[in-house]
Amino acid sequence: MKPSLLLPHRLHRNFWLILTLLALVFPFSLAQAQAPAISDQEVTRQVEALITQMTLAEKIGQLTQFGQLTQGDGNPAGEKEKEKPEDKIRRGAVGSVLWLQEPAAINRLQHVAVEQSRLHIPILFGLDVIHGLYTIFPAPLATAASWDPKMVEQEQTYAAREASAAGLNWTFAPMVDIARDVRWGRIIEGAGEDPYLGSAIAAAQVRGFQGPYLGSPGHVLATMKHYAGYGAADGGRDYDSSYLSDSQLWNVYLPPFHAAVQAGVGSAMSAYMDLNDVPASGNKFLLREVLRDSWGFKGFVVSDAFAIRSLMKHGMARDGQDAAYKAFTAGLNMDMASDTYLNNLEGLTKQGRITEREIDDMVRPILAVKIRLGLFEHPYVDEARLDAVWHTPEHRAFARTAAQRSIVLLRNEGSLLPFDKNGQRFSSIAVIGPLADAHRDLFGLWGTITGSKAPAVSVLEGIRSAVGSGMRVEYAKGPALRRDIPSFFENLAFADIHEDPPQSPEDAQHALDAAVETARHCDLSIMVLGETALMSGEAASRSALDLSSRQQQLLEAVAALGKPVVLVLVSGRPLSIAWAAEHVPAILEAWYPGVEGGNAVADILFGEATPGAKLPVTWPRSVGQEPLYYAHNLTQQPETDADFKSRYWDQLTSPLYPFGYGLSYTKFSFSNLKISNAQPRLGETFGVSVDVENTGNRAGAEVVQLYIHQQAGSASRPVRELKGFEKIDLAPHEKRTVTFSLGKDELSFWSPGLKKWVEEAEEFDVWVGEDSTATLHGKFRLVP
Ligand code: NOJ
Repeated sequence: MKPSLLLPHRLHRNFWLILTLLALVFPFSLAQAQAPAISDQEVTRQVEALITQMTLAEKIGQLTQFGQLTQGDGNPAGEKEKEKPEDKIRRGAVGSVLWLQEPAAINRLQHVAVEQSRLHIPILFGLDVIHGLYTIFPAPLATAASWDPKMVEQEQTYAAREASAAGLNWTFAPMVDIARDVRWGRIIEGAGEDPYLGSAIAAAQVRGFQGPYLGSPGHVLATMKHYAGYGAADGGRDYDSSYLSDSQLWNVYLPPFHAAVQAGVGSAMSAYMDLNDVPASGNKFLLREVLRDSWGFKGFVVSDAFAIRSLMKHGMARDGQDAAYKAFTAGLNMDMASDTYLNNLEGLTKQGRITEREIDDMVRPILAVKIRLGLFEHPYVDEARLDAVWHTPEHRAFARTAAQRSIVLLRNEGSLLPFDKNGQRFSSIAVIGPLADAHRDLFGLWGTITGSKAPAVSVLEGIRSAVGSGMRVEYAKGPALRRDIPSFFENLAFADIHEDPPQSPEDAQHALDAAVETARHCDLSIMVLGETALMSGEAASRSALDLSSRQQQLLEAVAALGKPVVLVLVSGRPLSIAWAAEHVPAILEAWYPGVEGGNAVADILFGEATPGAKLPVTWPRSVGQEPLYYAHNLTQQPETDADFKSRYWDQLTSPLYPFGYGLSYTKFSFSNLKISNAQPRLGETFGVSVDVENTGNRAGAEVVQLYIHQQAGSASRPVRELKGFEKIDLAPHEKRTVTFSLGKDELSFWSPGLKKWVEEAEEFDVWVGEDSTATLHGKFRLVP
């Protein structure tokens, strides 16, 4: 008996039932509607009591986050700053510390703050716990592909539990940046291209990290980042400027941030880049007008690392003092790691350029968060507890289920998958490729940094344990995989990540030939190709999307053997697989699937789990199509006109796989689209229902997706916009009616024609189906 296989299979079938049972056993598993332990009035009273005792220097300390890499503000005065962290903390010059992960190190500094600083104000410890701390779950883009906000919430509940057991009280997640250009390396950290899906996933993550209220036991403070527009970097180049029209900002890029605010997110991180030529960290429009004045955000904003000092690089600030002034007056509360506030705010106050009252206003939300988190009562972490918290079968089992539910089946010609491991068809499998026996590469970038303790299951190991001794499994790595230009994360003190060493052309060819030989001796090849952890994430944008380092050559050589081939992609983004999409019968996108990734891939390959994930991002045919997204406008001579088939002469305009796409081992049919009111009034909410049937013989999950299009109005509207989705599990031949509601929230948009939010009395199309090309169609007209 193989318990590791049985558990996920049952979990998959009874996923929510089991989680609910677990929630009864582990009281912090699912968010419960509870009231915070402390009232708003009491928080205010405590904040004011502290503020009146604080010196100006202590207030500025609260606006300062210390990082191991703190480098000063670039001015000679700042560079002399070589003080030890303990001394800085003791004199009240540190409100927060980042990049620590070990409970002992955290406690050590917290003791200094609480016992040796004048006012005993505890420190906020922040880290990038993006998809797990030790137990690394699938990366955010992967879990977005589950289209299952409940699961995403649960994932971040577990992540928060591990983080808080480590002594962390603050995570720099979720990243809610919309990304429509897959060249951008950080697309993996977000939920993809769509504001509606992105908003649902953003809110779910906030709920998961923070729990029902800020300060919920076993939870942490969340940060929505990178506010705002970071995902629209020119050319997909990380950190490059973004240029977004008002319409793109309000209708596409800001909604997930707004959703996070509405879900109660306690902090925000300002982005690195220039937004329409104004750096986001010195951007009053974003930080004051939108975030606080329009959305009523009550938390605090931290800069991205060194971003305040970088205002000089951007050409916005003359010197450190000017940078501090511009960030501060724009509304940025806390300086991450650059000490620009620490070195300059006092001087600015003395010169009368900013007032101490304004500093008080910036300190208040930081103190309020510390009070709400209960840090004054419980500043320390029980160092002995962490191992028991993260090292549990519960976290591993969830990681496996989450990965199963995040893997997208892109192609399955002739129903090659799933394999019957007890069947007679194959007696040997070659598992091939530079990622076939990769472990930490399955974690993605930040998972690799924080998750060094948890052993990962490689795809090779997952397959071996799935087939047992009944089948011969051979492995060949093929040529080494590495970036052309190394990542700066490879050399960071706190990040023990490395790619393969460089290989000579001869050695690479030799490794390739050996891998083909291995495939030749087996009945079937499973090729695990894609990107190392360092090839996606921060500072990991690409100008090409090829299967690099000869992986394409390897794939073609193995396919040329004429035996069945399955391509399993481990990657942070869609890659150029147009050739594979014609020549390789079965393709899975596993993203960075986390600690249980190899088992989850095997579960899908051998039918222990049925794929039900859908692309949260449009999959291009080639890199030159980028940015490519489904919710584009129709303009002059679109590709839908008979005579204008394509806007390029060397490439179709359509994607390889559309947004929302993903196959299952069963089939679903959609019928009986009903609109409860064909002429709803402006402001009215009405229903759209559809019958969904599992027409196959296997149980499976389908994501029912609803898209609309406004046919005319004060501005062009996208050809389609997602405005509803629901993931449902259906038994064989089970039929269910799914009902969506449409109302003002779904039908309004920010009109660039009228420069305001509008809901317009016009005719609308509605489609419901399995992806963004759904054909089941209806119409309604909004009337005044
Ligand atoms: C820089 C990254 O842009 C941001 O996402 C991260 O939270 C900070 N570094 C802190 O690690």
